[in-house]
Amino acid sequence: MRAVQTGQFEGGSAFVDGEFVPLSEAKISMFDWGFTRSDVTYDVATTWQGAFFRLDAHMDRFFASLQKMRLAIPYSRAELREILHGVVRAGGLQDAYVAMVCTRGVPPRGARDPRLAQNRFYAYALPYVWIASREKQLAGLDLHISERQRIPATSVDPTVKNYHWMDLVQSLYDAYDQGRDTSCVVDAAGNITEGPGFNVFMVKNGVVHTADSGVLEGISRRTAIELCERLQIPVHIAPVPSAALRAADEVFLTSSGGGILPIARLDGVALPDFPGPVAGRLYDAYWAIHEEAQYRDPVAY
Ligand SMILES: Cc1ncc(COP(=O)(O)O)c(C=O)c1O
Repeated sequence: MRAVQTGQFEGGSAFVDGEFVPLSEAKISMFDWGFTRSDVTYDVATTWQGAFFRLDAHMDRFFASLQKMRLAIPYSRAELREILHGVVRAGGLQDAYVAMVCTRGVPPRGARDPRLAQNRFYAYALPYVWIASREKQLAGLDLHISERQRIPATSVDPTVKNYHWMDLVQSLYDAYDQGRDTSCVVDAAGNITEGPGFNVFMVKNGVVHTADSGVLEGISRRTAIELCERLQIPVHIAPVPSAALRAADEVFLTSSGGGILPIARLDGVALPDFPGPVAGRLYDAYWAIHEEAQYRDPVAY
């Protein structure tokens, strides 16, 4: 692996086939099963003001997903960390969206056996990506509660970060058709699962609720739960029926794409509290702990 200079590929860079390259040169085969079969797992970490936030948690989840998918990358944990630092450094980025991806790869022509494919790894860093812009957040996000069902956990393990997004993307179109900003989908029993890139939380009578299963175990979800414990806010991790969400005092989303994102309306109906006091405290605490040494891994520019 050749070293890269700070800002060598200003604005964003990728690591493909063992080399750091500008984003415009980052390519994969159209025959890769990651593309033709969604046979892939990935993770997205972030840097904020020049340091990774909870990078170990993201790498743990990525390696666990690889194992569950029977995928493998040719890099150790230390090398992966080096590559992720490298793409941020090469992009000259302070606040970055940093993806690590492993696809099944391309089996020999005509072969249908995934064991014959050489797994592929790539990574890239872009400027930080927000689920919703700051202006949209201040104006108040309107969340559509879709009747579409998340692909069942018995079919696709949602704790493996995956590209099975047909349900999520179609629910986004439904949301936009109705003038909403984003959406979340339910499970077969009508409990709230997750949305395109985030977990969903609600607050009722001072208690924070979020789904216990059927969702990606988001790193920002974990951060929100841990912050509740720190701030002595009670948390209840159990199925959240969509009717309970509609009756909530506050609703917020959690994502590496923006942290804690308070919701103002559900399907056009204003929530009682926006911006709500609980989401507000968690929002402040979320950004404050970005300064704590135990969660920071500063990029060596
Ligand atoms: C489907 C889904 N759920 C939840 C999340 C939130 O996970 P995290 O907090 O680790 O960003 C994501 C992140 O992209 C996601 O894709």
